[in-house]
Amino acid sequence: MTKYGAFPGSRPRRLRTTPAMRRMVAETRVHPADLILPAFVREGIDAPVPIEAMPGVVQHTRETLRKAAVEAVEAGVSGIMLFGVPEDAKKDAAGTAGTDPDGILQVALRDVRSEVGDDLVIMSDLCLDEFTDHGHCGVLDADGRVDNDATLERYAEMAQVQADAGAHVLGPSGMMDGQVGVVRDALDQTGHEDVSILAYTAKYSSAFYGPFREAVGSSLQGDRKTYQQDPANLRESLRELALDLEEGADMVMVKPAGPYLDVLARVADAVDVPVSAYQISGEYAMVEAAAEKGWIDRDKAILETLTGIKRAGADTILTYWAVEAARALALR
Ligand code: PBG
Repeated sequence: MTKYGAFPGSRPRRLRTTPAMRRMVAETRVHPADLILPAFVREGIDAPVPIEAMPGVVQHTRETLRKAAVEAVEAGVSGIMLFGVPEDAKKDAAGTAGTDPDGILQVALRDVRSEVGDDLVIMSDLCLDEFTDHGHCGVLDADGRVDNDATLERYAEMAQVQADAGAHVLGPSGMMDGQVGVVRDALDQTGHEDVSILAYTAKYSSAFYGPFREAVGSSLQGDRKTYQQDPANLRESLRELALDLEEGADMVMVKPAGPYLDVLARVADAVDVPVSAYQISGEYAMVEAAAEKGWIDRDKAILETLTGIKRAGADTILTYWAVEAARALALR
């Protein structure tokens, strides 16, 4: 008691006294199995190419991607999300390389599946932006606008080739209306009833995708505001969520993660399917850059961001730190 009367009447600090006590009462635990590693594989290179704006992340060769997948399994990470980077000469207006059975993403899916089998959930980004010369997530109409329904036809073809190549989960990320339903139908009609869909449900038009454009060698003409969501909107995400579930999403995702934790919390409250959050390239770059300057403690900051995302309601987190974080978590 102090001489100032009744305060403090209660002492929450008691539960913070020792590391063991804090560990015991922790409400949120990030587990290696919560983590999914996004990985880039680039066609036609013999050594991994570092991504300048994402220190520590590379564009893999086919060979180093296989190794990265094995490392992910060993670290206890549960999944890998693959992005293919075709040779520049193979990019065209329709994103043909994305539906070529021998396109880089399909080749990489077969590589990883043969390397780790079912030990890792193998996922692939289902979107055209890595494969189009204009950098948009879909095909364009005569006026240069992204043509929703023509794009859906392309997504249906992508779904089939990615599933044929061995993906366990497809991640339609282009934010076209109807994309989840079309991908579900395409899978079911081609004998891939068991392939799941992780829907990019609430995907915002974000400045934090910046480093990703370097990662996939995309020079986007214009912006994605006619298909990705306005950062100002929350209710709109709940509408997208309802549509994705109706169309057959097995899991749903909020992206980016850090600046959208309120959206994540609302989505997690509203559903009975697993919820993912994607900690994107810019979120990664910010921590790495500040740490490089000595302004924050890198390792603590990484775990804090992951804990915050889990606390907000994510069951799984896509993060470029997946393997490193899984190893660090195993030691705690
Ligand atoms: C679309 C896609 C993007 C990302 C994942 N899938 C780019 C975009 O929508 O602009 C971004 C991931 C990241 O920034 O880490 N294929």
